[in-house]
Amino acid sequence: METTNFLPYAHQSIESSDIDAVTAALKHEVITRGSQVAAFEQEVCQRVHALYGVAFCNGSTALAAAFQAAHVGPHDRIITSPNTFIASVAGGVRAGATLRCVDIDSYGNIDLSLLAEEINVPKSRGRAIVVPVHIAGVAVDLTQLDDLIFMPDTVVIEDAAHALGSSYPDGTPVGCCAYSDMTVLSFHAIKNITCGEGGMVTTNDPLLYQRLKKIRDSGIERTPVTGADAGAPWYYEVDELSCNFHMTEFQAALGRSQLQRLDTFFQKKASLIASYRRKLASTPAVTLHPEAVDPLTHYHLFEVNIEFEALGLTRSKVMEGLHALSIGSQYHYVPLYCHPALKGALSQKPQDFPAMEEHYKKSLSLPFFSSMTEADVDRVVTSLRTVLFQTCLT
Ligand SMILES: Cc1ncc(COP(=O)(O)O)c(C=O)c1O
Repeated sequence: METTNFLPYAHQSIESSDIDAVTAALKHEVITRGSQVAAFEQEVCQRVHALYGVAFCNGSTALAAAFQAAHVGPHDRIITSPNTFIASVAGGVRAGATLRCVDIDSYGNIDLSLLAEEINVPKSRGRAIVVPVHIAGVAVDLTQLDDLIFMPDTVVIEDAAHALGSSYPDGTPVGCCAYSDMTVLSFHAIKNITCGEGGMVTTNDPLLYQRLKKIRDSGIERTPVTGADAGAPWYYEVDELSCNFHMTEFQAALGRSQLQRLDTFFQKKASLIASYRRKLASTPAVTLHPEAVDPLTHYHLFEVNIEFEALGLTRSKVMEGLHALSIGSQYHYVPLYCHPALKGALSQKPQDFPAMEEHYKKSLSLPFFSSMTEADVDRVVTSLRTVLFQTCLT
């Protein structure tokens, strides 16, 4: 019977300093909308070189707020890659925008050589809302993207849910918004740092900053100039429908504590990636993503391509086999064009996306998180070979 501890595909890293920070925040008089959230916003901005940051209760609401802040609506078209989580587009599609997907490159990111055909299509109405998703932490080259855009009303909202701590090819940090209107981060449990749940939008635009704060706060304008009671200290107005998207003080305290270890997490994960690369290099039927971007990338996932079909296997069978050996695994992502909820917004077909279809057939995410050890990597590699070939080749 298997007795080894189960190794999940992802896991948070919580230390006593995190617990102390959360405990202190919980003992404070103010447990939401206070100084911890403001300090967290400031510290993230310092880290990513952005002027403004607005914290949200999770990355999905932060993305929805970014679409709303940019007034995305009917006639606009969101352009992104199909290899992403639904939150990358949900807020914009809910607001009535249509969706165009562009196939992926060898990192699983939007293929910029194909994007050129989509991005500047003249339309009588509506704007292009480009959502580059930095998948698994690998940054899309935004200077290259910027060179492709010549319609002045184009909006760029980066989905950097996976990529806090990564840099673009020019060495600037993801989140700095040098070539985008807004960047969205996630602090979900298994992301590069965590608040339990949490998100943030960074921007350098003061007007977007003000709008994001209002959208986070149910659309409330606290200092309205119109209305019979304008000026009264208790008076407020809602001039735009939204929701309560606030982050709590104890979430922010955890985020601040985690942010101090961002570089440690990066280094630990860089060394795990290097080990995986070495140990999997000669494994038949397994290929790894290109390593050129490794020094710039704070990896969130470790994905490999496996020739399931050629081996007479399926992804489900391999995942079951790994699970029986106490190894977790996952697949990222079911292509956007497969989701029934997007059928009305997206008219493209799977055959329009040969690279995504290849990824969908072959990719598997193996255990990858900062508290893993070299021995864990060995265990995963040995188990994977056992499952793929029914015999250990090492
Ligand atoms: C690419 C991507 N975008 C957005 C999100 C949404 O973030 P959150 O889980 O914080 O809502 C996720 C979460 O998994 C994601 O993977």
